[in-house]
Amino acid sequence: MNDMQNKTMLSLIHNRKSVRHFQSGDVNKEKLKEVVRAGMAAPSARDLRPWQFLIITNENTLKNLAEQLPYAKMLHDVSAAIVVMGDTTVKSPSGQSYWLQDTCAATENILLAAEALGLGAVWTALYPYQDRMSPVVEACHIPEHIVPLNIIPVGIPEGADKPKDKWEPDKIHWNAWETK
Ligand SMILES: Cc1cc2nc3c(=O)[nH]c(=O)nc-3n(C[C@H](O)[C@H](O)[C@H](O)COP(=O)(O)O)c2cc1C
Repeated sequence: MNDMQNKTMLSLIHNRKSVRHFQSGDVNKEKLKEVVRAGMAAPSARDLRPWQFLIITNENTLKNLAEQLPYAKMLHDVSAAIVVMGDTTVKSPSGQSYWLQDTCAATENILLAAEALGLGAVWTALYPYQDRMSPVVEACHIPEHIVPLNIIPVGIPEGADKPKDKWEPDKIHWNAWETK
């Protein structure tokens, strides 16, 4: 990677923000697949990739979920949403499951890919809240062994949402947790 590409990659990371205000307009299926492909490129424990992705483009389903999920009202204003899900049956030989860590990594990749493609997206939590997971499980016929981690409305950003500067040097500890 050359200096220019490094700069672009870092700008992308620092420009990512939760987008909650959208313009009208559809996101085409190719872009949605590209975003999910980035999700699948995430690291996962033992490379087990315990993720599944559900892309919702059905208008009725989006509206129905917007009504039932108070923290994901933005579903009213987009033409697509991605549900990132973990398969709880995928385990290491010693029986460990890392679906939560792995799907979180996939989610961050999805949010970065959306930013890279000029789209707006926001992580809205489903897991661990039963009352948020249930409407999605029901509407999308998700089987019992699959846990919906979040639902990510994806759309054309209106421009009002801006990235935050979160640089907090005090949160870095060199070599040991020194007392201040
Ligand atoms: C685990 C998790 C759950 C979140 N749940 C919601 C949510 O339900 N609704 C929402 O609008 N934003 C949600 N967010 C987005 C955060 O509010 C947002 O990332 C945070 O305010 C920082 O802003 P930024 O993403 O623009 O940097 C969630 C983020 C994470 C990581």
